[in-house]
Amino acid sequence: MSFSIIVAMDTEQGIGRNNKLLVHLPNDLKWFKQNTLNHTVIMGRNTYDSIGKALPKRRNIVISSSLQSLPDAMVANNLQDVMRMVNPEQENFIIGGAQIYRLFLPLTDTLYITHIHANLHADTFFPAINFDKWIKIKEIFNPADDKNPYAHTFAIYKLKKE
Ligand SMILES: NC(=O)c1ccc[n+]([C@@H]2O[C@H](COP(=O)([O-])OP(=O)(O)OC[C@H]3O[C@@H](n4cnc5c(N)ncnc54)[C@H](OP(=O)(O)O)[C@@H]3O)[C@@H](O)[C@H]2O)c1
Repeated sequence: MSFSIIVAMDTEQGIGRNNKLLVHLPNDLKWFKQNTLNHTVIMGRNTYDSIGKALPKRRNIVISSSLQSLPDAMVANNLQDVMRMVNPEQENFIIGGAQIYRLFLPLTDTLYITHIHANLHADTFFPAINFDKWIKIKEIFNPADDKNPYAHTFAIYKLKKE
């Protein structure tokens, strides 16, 4: 069983502040939607609270030790629950936040990273990544524009085979 992580991070690997995203980047939201639509998305309870609802047209799994159920998402109380809920034949996306990225990074073979080319002074960070273990298979640079305040690069990495 393996997972795909999708994340937007700044130059310090920051991912959030005050339980919100660091910046509104419509271009990245489009990229996120394009990649995750019709798939299973797995998130921590803080990230679910931050979004405020389940993401449409996706199967939503929220990991929480305090919740038993949600009206619009499946609740997993631990990693074992998630393993029972996902289809190993499909691509299952880990969509954050930091605690959940940390939990799943060792089980992940694909990273979709949006590198935001700025320090946005986060209070929440992606765990350390050893990029020697990953090979970049795609890279798309996007300059800042009227709607997207910072330049950013969409990159996809695959775990190198041992
Ligand atoms: N930049 C990005 O791409 C991106 C993506 C997603 C989120 N974010 C940001 O990340 C921040 C939130 O991250 P976070 O680390 O604070 O929270 P999180 O990972 O979203 O959620 C943490 C919660 O998940 C539950 N949890 C974690 N590990 C668990 C385990 N092993 N078993 C059962 N439940 C577990 C706990 O919920 P209970 O307390 O209910 O037990 C815990 O409080 C926000 O700022 C958000 O905007 C950024």
